[in-house]
Amino acid sequence: MSTIEPENDFMLDQHHIWHPYAPLNGQYTSYHVTSTQGVHLHLNNGQVLIDGMASWWCAIHGYNHPRLNQAITQQIKTLSHVMFGGLTHTPAIELAKKLIHLTPEGLNQVFFADSGSVAIEVAIKMAVQYWQAKQQPNRTKLLTIRKGYHGDTFGAMSVCDPETGMHHQFNDLLMKNIHVDGPTSGFDATDVAHELRPLEQALHHHADELMGIILEPIVQGAGGMNFYSPHYLKGAHELAKSAGILFIADEIATGFGRTGKLFACEHAKITPDILCLGKALTGGYMTLAATLCTQNISHTISEKGALMHGPTFMGNPLACRVASDSIDLLLESHWEQNIRNIEARMLKKLTMCQNKPYVRSVRILGAIGVVELTRPVNMNTIQPYFVSKNVWIRPFGCLIYLMPPYTIEMKALDILCSAVYDAVNEIERLLL
Ligand SMILES: Cc1ncc(COP(=O)(O)O)c(C=O)c1O
Repeated sequence: MSTIEPENDFMLDQHHIWHPYAPLNGQYTSYHVTSTQGVHLHLNNGQVLIDGMASWWCAIHGYNHPRLNQAITQQIKTLSHVMFGGLTHTPAIELAKKLIHLTPEGLNQVFFADSGSVAIEVAIKMAVQYWQAKQQPNRTKLLTIRKGYHGDTFGAMSVCDPETGMHHQFNDLLMKNIHVDGPTSGFDATDVAHELRPLEQALHHHADELMGIILEPIVQGAGGMNFYSPHYLKGAHELAKSAGILFIADEIATGFGRTGKLFACEHAKITPDILCLGKALTGGYMTLAATLCTQNISHTISEKGALMHGPTFMGNPLACRVASDSIDLLLESHWEQNIRNIEARMLKKLTMCQNKPYVRSVRILGAIGVVELTRPVNMNTIQPYFVSKNVWIRPFGCLIYLMPPYTIEMKALDILCSAVYDAVNEIERLLL
């Protein structure tokens, strides 16, 4: 038995608990949250922070929402968990119905996974098994664009950017996929023919070995917060279709309204063959993801046998129930208007950062606001800086960004934007 003698919880956390993308060396500092309410995080020192991150795209309704609390507590009284092998339950059935109804036409087969990364693994397995079932087992590669991020598990890492992504030290161990340069001309671009050329060329060169194209539609998230044009997305989808391969949309970050459409694929009016959802699916309450596919894929795989994936907590009833209610809550709200308001406000306020020293660009889409710098920030100075201003904003690399809960009031959003603006005005001392 190991013994630990922490002087306090802070030290126990620092010396014994891993945090995301962090060393465990006693140097890493975390702020201790005791409760959350609406758009606020309450810290154990009494400080209250306005949340600009929605807990990494998840908490779209804000925190501690009475409706979601009620859904999950009601569910706990009847069925918290049961294995999904050989058993089913109403929360999973109800949620599947809603997802089939809401997502682009043609996606009507649902696999419940336990996190975004696992949803990507399942999508990859679907693609592999689809081509095996079609007697083309030589098709084992995916085509994607650089600056992508699809998760931290091995299949997902293999489609993340191999150089600028967070996983380059694993490169030799990963599936060998094809990465080409992606679009750079932004959301409003209309002439994207030249930007599609690398995809076209790769499709030509690897015609016999590709399973499909995988992309984050419209917004590349953790790989650089790049926005690209619906014309590019449409073009990429058409290229996949004319090559006869699958198109996989990773909407784990963009799903459920974040870009101003319920799903980012709607900007280009496309239906992918496989769609991955996660993050905001449960309104930030629990981990749950889903991989949807067309009947063509499920039938092709199932003619030969089973889809070979089945996690212990597959279709967890608590997660499915809270996801169902989160979707209802979203659809009953004025989410489109709320997001338009957030977008307009961030346009007005964050655009003031443009043309400041060290600012490369400012871009806003839906409820996502990004200030990209020319140099990376120093987390040891910028994080306490934001906390001292009573906001929770967590930059990474050269990016300071906001993606608040959709329920945020304009006054609170102004405080977030001002904190970003102030940081930009003092940026020299906050850079690495
Ligand atoms: C686009 C995208 N795909 C996949 C993932 C992985 O999801 P998870 O962190 O739930 O495994 C993320 C997470 O940030 C993401 O943004």
